Order: sequence, then structure tokens, then C-alpha cells
Amino acid sequence: MAAQRGNFGSRFTAIMAMAGSAIGLGNIWRFPYMVGQNGGAAFIIVYLLSAVMLCIPIFLAESIIGKRTQLSTFGAMEKLSPGTRWKWMGFLTVFTPLIILSFYSVVGGWSIEYLFKSLGFAFTDPAVSREGHSAIFGAFITSVRKPLILHTVFLALNAVIVMAGVQKGIEKFTKITTPVLFVLVVLIMVYSLTLPGAAAGIEYMIKPDFSKLTSSAMLSAMGQSFFSLSLGVGCILTYASYLRRDENLLSTGLCTAVFDLGFAIIAGFAIMPAVFAAGIEPGAGPGLIFETLPFIFSTMGASAPMLSNIVAILFFTTILFAALTSSVSMLETGVAYLVDEKKMSRLKATSIIFVGCWILGVFCSLSFGPISDFHILGSTVFDFCDHMTSDFLMTFGSLLFVLFVGWKMDRESVYDEFTNGGTLRGNGRIFGVVYFFIRYIAPVVIVTIFVTNLIL
Ligand code: PFF
Repeated sequence: MAAQRGNFGSRFTAIMAMAGSAIGLGNIWRFPYMVGQNGGAAFIIVYLLSAVMLCIPIFLAESIIGKRTQLSTFGAMEKLSPGTRWKWMGFLTVFTPLIILSFYSVVGGWSIEYLFKSLGFAFTDPAVSREGHSAIFGAFITSVRKPLILHTVFLALNAVIVMAGVQKGIEKFTKITTPVLFVLVVLIMVYSLTLPGAAAGIEYMIKPDFSKLTSSAMLSAMGQSFFSLSLGVGCILTYASYLRRDENLLSTGLCTAVFDLGFAIIAGFAIMPAVFAAGIEPGAGPGLIFETLPFIFSTMGASAPMLSNIVAILFFTTILFAALTSSVSMLETGVAYLVDEKKMSRLKATSIIFVGCWILGVFCSLSFGPISDFHILGSTVFDFCDHMTSDFLMTFGSLLFVLFVGWKMDRESVYDEFTNGGTLRGNGRIFGVVYFFIRYIAPVVIVTIFVTNLIL
């Protein structure tokens, strides 16, 4: 087992890998459409509160378990609480990321399509109207062959990266791409904010209308914050198990959360002003950015076609990299389980998961076209997988992690891991507060939001 496992070489690499997992389609694709579907600024406020009050404690809880045991969820729980049912969380943390990966890779496939489109100068033709671009997107996602091929390509890229192993694959990859992503989204935001009509979008992002804050919007905001930081699925736990023993979990967690939040907010300000400038419906759903971005690039293209095309290519390359650095972390979570617990080779583990995700992804993709009338509990297959994972499974997983660290592990072990045996004095000083959030605040708030949503 030891030979199959790896380690992150340095703190920078570890933070970049975790931020790479966190920053992904969740920030660029899902956050803007969730904001649009749930009423704007009020949703963002709950999202931010959840990030600070819940996500940081959950992140710490997961990484304490991972770093302490150097194992993925199943083995980690068994090691810390032998012979109990906690180890069954291992299954939850294998299945949830894999369901996410299935629909995620469909959107990953859409990003590939849009990268190709930008390489073919598709957004610089002034003859194509905003509605024209929306129609092109609609025709694409409702078709069968192309989205399926691209879904397959996206998953295959993941498999290749994960099979290469932690050091050679993920590490090298994320170290370069994550910082580049950040710069690109800031550039797009600056342009978007200057569009005529952008003011309404800015207002939508900053002026809360609390009447829109239903209990389901609150659950979605919480779920989105978990989704964005990859929490409750054992992904952060698995990455933390690759951390060096002397790593400072608090600074790793805070850096990752700040990068991730900052990225989502910037992406929101890059997309929402353009949504309003273009007259697109903010609640348009999963296709929101794919309808908005062509508008951004086309308007840019009217005055500077070459520049707009370069930005478009860079942007879709960015999205693709962001998506890949996140999706490899989902795949890695499942692979780590099979390698650690079932003693499989990485090749075999990756292949098995590839097939499972591919099949579910096919249904997700077809749910925009031929099987759009097939509903599970009132949602299409894609929406069902999307909402079931973030609103339910990730929330449930997060709750179990904080309960485990707050109530099952003994306080001394948690302190020891959080302060590296007492050597990190600063961490020691705030331990009491952190522990209180893990033990009381996070579980109570999660349960309250969840139950309120069930009742109302
Ligand atoms: N945090 C990723 C994103 O925002 O795109 C999504 C994600 C990655 C969810 C890894 C879950 C996971 F295990």
C-alpha cells in the first residue's frame, strides 16, 4: 500500500492541489447559475456565512482525520474507531464524488466543445445574435452524439491523469494551472463590468432581496458552499492524507477557502453583469454561462475581434483546466479507496470507476435531449444527480465528519493534530473556538437548515 501512495512535495503544492480541487466548474459554472436561480445577493450572503461558519470547521475536521491516519475515509475511520459503523462512511465518500463526476464530466464535455468553438473563431461573427448563440447551445446539448463523445473524452483525460499517480499527475498539473486560472477570470470580470447595462447585474449581486430567501434557497446556498470546497465527500480527507506530517492544517484550510470563495465571487461578477447586459434570464439554469459567454466574446469582438478571440480561447482553456483539477480529485477519492482497501492496482481501480461514471454520465447527458421527460422525484437525471449530491449527500457527509471529530475522537488527538503536537502555538491559542465550531455550531446549523427545508 505504501508504495502506491504518494505525498505532496511542499506546502505550496498541497495548497494548490486542494485549491485546484475546490476551484472548478462549481465556481465558474455552478455558482453563477445558483445565484441566478435563488435570487442574487441574499443567496450570496448565506453562501458566505456558510463558508465561514460551516465550511472551515468541516474542512478542518476532514483534514484532521486524513492527516492523522494517512488513509482514505474507509481505512481512516476504521483506524480511529475500530470495529464501529463509522467505516461505512467510506462508501458514502466513494459514491458521492462518483455521482458528481458523472454529471460534472458532461459539463466538462461542454467546455471542450466551447474550447473548440473558440479555436474556430465561433464567437467573433457579428452576424450571430445573442439568441442565435443560445439556440446553438440548445441544439448542442439536446443532441446525442457530440455531448456523449466529449463526456467520454473528458472522463478519459481524468483517468490518464489519475493513473499517472499523485506525484507525477496531479501535482505537476495543478501547480501550473491554478494560478493561471485566477488571473484569467479577473480579466474577464474587468471587461464584463464595463459592458453597457452591467449595472443591473452588479446590483443583483450586492443588493439583497430577502423575500427570495426561501428555505430551499438556504439549503442550496449551504450545499453550494460545500460543493465548492469539495466537502463532505472525503476528497479533502484524502488529499490531507497526502500532506506532510508537519503541515499546518489551519493555514492550508484558510488559504484554500479564501482562494475558492474569492474565485466564486469574481466569477459571479464576471458572469452576472453580462447576463443582465445581454438580457438573459438569470434563472436559466445549468446552461447559463454557456449562453452568456458567447455574448461577452461577441460584444468584445465587435471592437477588437482578435483580442476577443484570444480571451475566449484562454477562458475556455481555463474552464477546462479548472474542471480537470477538480474532477481528478473526485476520481482520486474513489481510486484511493480501491487501492488502499481492496489492494487494487491504480490501473484497475481507475478503469472500474471510469466505466461506472461513464454510464451514469450518459444518462445525465441524454437527460437534456431524448430522455428529458424521464424524471426522478420531479427532476431530470442531471438535475437529480446535481441536487441530490450537493443538497443532500455532501451535507450529510459533512455532518458526519464534524460529528466524528467533535464527539467521537478524543479532544487531545484533535488538539494534537491541529497544533502538530503543540508546536503550532498560534493554532493552540484558537483551538477552543475551532473545536466549539466543529462540535456545536456546524452540526446544529446544518441540521437546522436541513430540517427547516424538509418541514417548509
Ligand atoms: N469543488 C469542485 C468545484 O467547485 O467545481 C467540485 C467538487 C470537487 C466536488 C471534488 C466534490 C469533490 F469531491
